[in-house]
Amino acid sequence: MLKWAGGKRRLVPDILAALPREIDTYYEPFVGGGAVFFALAAEGRFQRAVLSDRNSELIQMYAAIRDDVESVIAALSDMRHSEEEYYRIRALRPRTLARKAARIIYLNKTGYNGLYRVNRSGEFNVPFGRQERPNICDADNLRAVAQVLQGVEVLVSDFESVVAGARPGDAVYFDPPYMPVSTTAKFTSYHSEPFGNDEHHRLARLFGDLAARRVAVVLSNSDTKETRALYGSFKPRVVHASRPINSNARARGPVAELLVAANTSRRKGRKASAAGGAASRELVLKEEG
Ligand SMILES: C[S@@+](CC[C@H](N)C(=O)[O-])C[C@H]1O[C@@H](n2cnc3c(N)ncnc32)[C@H](O)[C@@H]1O
Repeated sequence: MLKWAGGKRRLVPDILAALPREIDTYYEPFVGGGAVFFALAAEGRFQRAVLSDRNSELIQMYAAIRDDVESVIAALSDMRHSEEEYYRIRALRPRTLARKAARIIYLNKTGYNGLYRVNRSGEFNVPFGRQERPNICDADNLRAVAQVLQGVEVLVSDFESVVAGARPGDAVYFDPPYMPVSTTAKFTSYHSEPFGNDEHHRLARLFGDLAARRVAVVLSNSDTKETRALYGSFKPRVVHASRPINSNARARGPVAELLVAANTSRRKGRKASAAGGAASRELVLKEEG
């Protein structure tokens, strides 16, 4: 429902194929625009879902849509598309959850490239965008999203604590801010706190821990030397996506990404081993072809 930096719409078929057919609880700890969650929901692949992100405005928006979509639609339908209106709404600090959600949706649809960026004080600072006729209030889509979100837990959380209770039968999809592919790439600044090297190492340890606990786990990241070093033992697979959110149009072409997976075998009766060593990492990748 949102355009989101690093949005996985183009990689969805590969990611869906890597995840198990049937999932007890699905966790998506870097949910962003939720492209993978919505696609999995459409296929009825999980019993329960827990969506989380460190971005509290984003998570509050999902909660508002889930709990009172009509108020979100009512607030959005008052909003008009113009540069003046954009800066007026950007400066607002609404009190109700529905108005906060409407503001975030409006800024996403009408701001520059659908970016979410805040300054050091946490203030949204993306300039007005160039969309010709954005669909600011897509009421049917919002109601469909609300339907899908019924019963779904949405949490503001760091990626680690939220998966502490994951068990065999559950699945986790991690889509962290990218490992920068060049020194000028700024894909890590979604929030006022950066997602640096330490965070990528912490995530890689968590990935290994979940794999050893026999939880199905899939992760995507840019194809860099550092990512290969972190996940090499899980034999990542290269997939191609294009990144639509980049201020440099020449950098929007297809880029290689790595897809890492563990314990995701779809073959019946095949159990992942929890024993130590490389053999315990039941690495299962999408079947070729
Ligand atoms: C690559 S985006 C996810 C894109 C999403 N898969 C989609 O399809 O739109 C990364 C997300 O991670 C969130 N994030 C950054 N640091 C985080 C952290 N430490 N814990 C949880 N979420 C974090 C950002 O707010 C951002 O929404």
